[in-house]
Amino acid sequence: VRVAVDSKAMKFVLGFLTGGIAAVAIPLVVLTTGSFNVAATAKPSTFEKKIAPWALARAVKKQAPHQTVPFNTNDPAVLQRGLIHYREECAVCHGAPGLGAAALSKGLNPDAPMLDAPDVQKMSDGELFWVIKNGIRMTGMPAFGRGRKDEELWKIVAFIRHLDKLSAEESARLRVHHHAED
Ligand code: HEC
Repeated sequence: VRVAVDSKAMKFVLGFLTGGIAAVAIPLVVLTTGSFNVAATAKPSTFEKKIAPWALARAVKKQAPHQTVPFNTNDPAVLQRGLIHYREECAVCHGAPGLGAAALSKGLNPDAPMLDAPDVQKMSDGELFWVIKNGIRMTGMPAFGRGRKDEELWKIVAFIRHLDKLSAEESARLRVHHHAED
């Protein structure tokens, strides 16, 4: 027996088993004792900051349709519909250029990014469409696809592309609702 325990292979196996048990037992203790901080105000872990967004981007990329907005994205009628959707359903969390960040976003974890930000604008039309339609689970991002025509969702995508080119009149129309809610 002594010979076996002293052997390097046995030490390796014991170390491996101890590590495996610890990997299961420590999280189990944290979870059963209620020590996991579920508050939205908790500081995000490295997993939430780095790995989850990376996996999210890959999942969205894989599932998103390979197509661009199926309308003329400069058509005022399309942009007008997009603006109304955006004002009623998105600005409350995402804010807008000219309005600034939404107050509500500060209480979200992860927060809701400004949609004119380079990280969002570099997403394809299909990726934006997919996120709007399906939402992102375990974040505040809702799915808007239930009972809604794809056509309307594409108009929101068109408007997101237009966020950096808002006319004075469009900014004013976005603001009306914002002030009404204060
Ligand atoms: C209740 C708050 C809330 C509302 C309303 C909301 N969102 Fe979001 N949205 C979020 C949050 C939070 C995230 C960040 C999720 C993350 O980081 O994983 C997000 C992320 C996104 C993203 C970026 C995804 C990425 O991978 O970076 C897009 C695009 C987006 N939302 C579009 C919209 C549009 C368009 C609307 C309106 C139709 C909308 N959202 C409404 C909370 C919201």
